[in-house]
Amino acid sequence: MNFKGQNIVSIRDFSRDDIEHILDVSRTMVPIAKGKETSDLLKGKILATLFFEPSTRTNLSFKAAMLRLGGSTLGFTDVKSTSAKKGETLADTIRMAEAYSDIIVLRHPQEGAARLASQFSSQPIINAGDGAGQHPTQTLLDLFTINEEVGSIEGKNIALVGDLRYGRTAHSLSHALAMFNANLTFLSPKTLTMPTAVIRLLEQEGANIKVATTLEEVAEESDIIYMTRIQKERFPDPSEYKKVAGSYMLDPEMLEYAKKTMRIMHPLPRVDEIPSEIDSSEHAAYFRQAFNGVPVRMALLALVSGVVK
Ligand code: CP
Repeated sequence: MNFKGQNIVSIRDFSRDDIEHILDVSRTMVPIAKGKETSDLLKGKILATLFFEPSTRTNLSFKAAMLRLGGSTLGFTDVKSTSAKKGETLADTIRMAEAYSDIIVLRHPQEGAARLASQFSSQPIINAGDGAGQHPTQTLLDLFTINEEVGSIEGKNIALVGDLRYGRTAHSLSHALAMFNANLTFLSPKTLTMPTAVIRLLEQEGANIKVATTLEEVAEESDIIYMTRIQKERFPDPSEYKKVAGSYMLDPEMLEYAKKTMRIMHPLPRVDEIPSEIDSSEHAAYFRQAFNGVPVRMALLALVSGVVK
């Protein structure tokens, strides 16, 4: 694929070759992401970051990525400070961002918002999470992390645990893992299982899927345990959230049965899924994973700008 000018809306828009190319370019960005080398690759370019929902990692790592490559950023994180509060449509907000910048990063509570935005912009739109839909740049950094932590993705046993219904990172990641022939295990409360539509697509893609019943089982068998937060903000009824809050919490004793090389990932933020005692364990990869957002997003910005082929 020629990435110049491409939108990054869903991981399913990309082939395995495309993804491997992004991961290769990401690897070259690591010294710049760490501040050990400098770069002016995107000097003169402006990134607009439009966050209609809260974010720490995606917002800051996109900004860090642009700044590390010599570019500039503008944007908002509080929708109340924008004219959307006065009734401006998403289409008009995107038209404005298109006029003021070269690339637009959008996080929005509505599933499909990034695809819609791409219809109103001649500049590339990067989906930074659309409701319970997709989070493709998180998936790319997750894949990058799996490669870095356990050497490869192909044939690995990867368990996705927690809120598989509303967790957009789990949706995007499971499609990508299927592309790389990983073995998928799902563990979630009964009311938060992977949506049927996602399962159907995964089956069409030939995914190898298993459903687990306990965290202990998952800890023993997995190369990667991908924990997720129960997405409280997406529950229409708060009492339903209360029924499943705290469903799956790792504890250090469970890890005694894990392979030494097993790694725990989490897109973060965490609530109570991973206690802080685990942070110093050899299994904890989630803070390195969060850092990997910088080189991966640098690669995406460079590719869609066309300064790297
Ligand atoms: N992983 C992730 O999307 O984190 P933020 O919500 O903090 O951006």
